[in-house]
Amino acid sequence: MRIDVVSIFPEYLAPLRLSLLGRAQEDGLLELAVHDLRDFTFDRHRTVDDTPYGGGAGMVMKAEPWALALEHVLASQAATAEQPGSMGEAGQAAPTEEAAHDAGPASARRPVLIVPSPAGAVFTQAMAYELSEEPTLAFACGRYEGIDERVLDWAAQRFDVRPVSLGDYVLNGGEVAVMAMVEAVGRLLPGVVGNPESLVEESHADGLLEYPVYTKPSLWRGHGVPEVLLSGNHGKVASWRLEQQLRRTAARRPELLDGADAAPYGKAERAVLRELGYEVADGRIRRAAPRA
Ligand code: ADE
Repeated sequence: MRIDVVSIFPEYLAPLRLSLLGRAQEDGLLELAVHDLRDFTFDRHRTVDDTPYGGGAGMVMKAEPWALALEHVLASQAATAEQPGSMGEAGQAAPTEEAAHDAGPASARRPVLIVPSPAGAVFTQAMAYELSEEPTLAFACGRYEGIDERVLDWAAQRFDVRPVSLGDYVLNGGEVAVMAMVEAVGRLLPGVVGNPESLVEESHADGLLEYPVYTKPSLWRGHGVPEVLLSGNHGKVASWRLEQQLRRTAARRPELLDGADAAPYGKAERAVLRELGYEVADGRIRRAAPRA
């Protein structure tokens, strides 16, 4: 996968060169290009913002540097796709700008452009999985009061533009959100995480929070480890863990269970769900109505 990030603080993204994602880049599993928006300005002060039409507080990011930067991203992604042995050779080529135009607005062939914004759809693990299938991703980090809206209209003719929020709170800009999203997506790329099993058993992989984990010693400062984990009985361990997932999800994120598919759960889990105040109807888990 190739990822392009445009920001006025390219150094903010430096940690993405470390650890697992750093190794993924060394191994050629991930190509990360960070672009300085100010490189697409021509005045002495490298100006990227101006006052808002209609008045009001703060500054708005100017349209033209964004258009130039995103045109550069499109051209770079197309060049990567055309390189021998690139991701494009595997049949996942990012379209050229021309192809992106031809493909029409509903086409899935347009390269994805994520615009981090508290006004976007909330980022989820399901979204991370979906994005990890893309050959290229681009991220446009806004700052100040945001980017001139016309950039998004212009970009929608060239990219599959997706405003995405990290959560219901406001950050100073898109960079921190991009770091979170790139890490969440990057670790799902084949070969990035050493043991792919660990991706199956983590929180949100199956719509539930992860079960609690323990390591040696078995008695620590008076706190023991649940007996079942020391039993060596893999079947019992698996059902205990699933029960813990259900209990933890019901306690911490009850809305994740409400409306979930009940098919994966057998008799024992359904009994736990009932105890936790849920019922199964028409194959779905629902929060039971409180008793009068
Ligand atoms: N920029 C500012 N706040 C944000 C948020 N919550 N998510 C993504 N980008 C943002």
